[in-house]
Amino acid sequence: MSQHPALVEHVLTREEIQARVVELGAQISADYAGREITLTCVLKGGFVFLADLIREITIPCSIDFMVISSYGTGTQSSGVVRILKDLDGPIDELDVIVVEDIVDSGLTLSYLLRNLKTRKPASLEVCALLAKPARLENDVKCRYVGFEIPDTFVVGYGLDAAERFRELPDIWSVDEAKL
Ligand code: IMP
Repeated sequence: MSQHPALVEHVLTREEIQARVVELGAQISADYAGREITLTCVLKGGFVFLADLIREITIPCSIDFMVISSYGTGTQSSGVVRILKDLDGPIDELDVIVVEDIVDSGLTLSYLLRNLKTRKPASLEVCALLAKPARLENDVKCRYVGFEIPDTFVVGYGLDAAERFRELPDIWSVDEAKL
């Protein structure tokens, strides 16, 4: 299959991602040893990461999903966040880890954490596969970060550009003019 012209270069290969996901799973399992966790996955982008991460976690865990709108079809954060699908169940007294694909400006995550905190979880942390420190606009904290990447728009491994490229096993930078 020929490569789409918008795909510029590999940012992370599937092997690099897999190795890091193994480490993250081991770290979370050690940090929460003896406890049970709830992984709150932010859809759509987080679904591939969640599926791999959960298989590296060796303590009991449950999952739930939220759908949040942040970008629409553009590539810049609008700062306007809406919950399109809420969690199915309550999280009070639970040890919750939000599983995010990427923290860019941090606006989405900061909104989400504020919202989830009002539901009184026993603890609330974040596990993000990717973070772009150069773009962060607030002091939102992620306990677990897979990779810090430069300020470039990336796709693959669940991440999209206007709903495309989620299926790619590797993470690529894109030329937005060629999308
Ligand atoms: P933030 O609110 O600016 O931190 O953006 C968070 C959300 O924007 C992520 O959960 C993604 O859905 C999306 N996003 C941010 N950067 C990228 C990127 O480089 N590729 C794909 N989606 C991105």
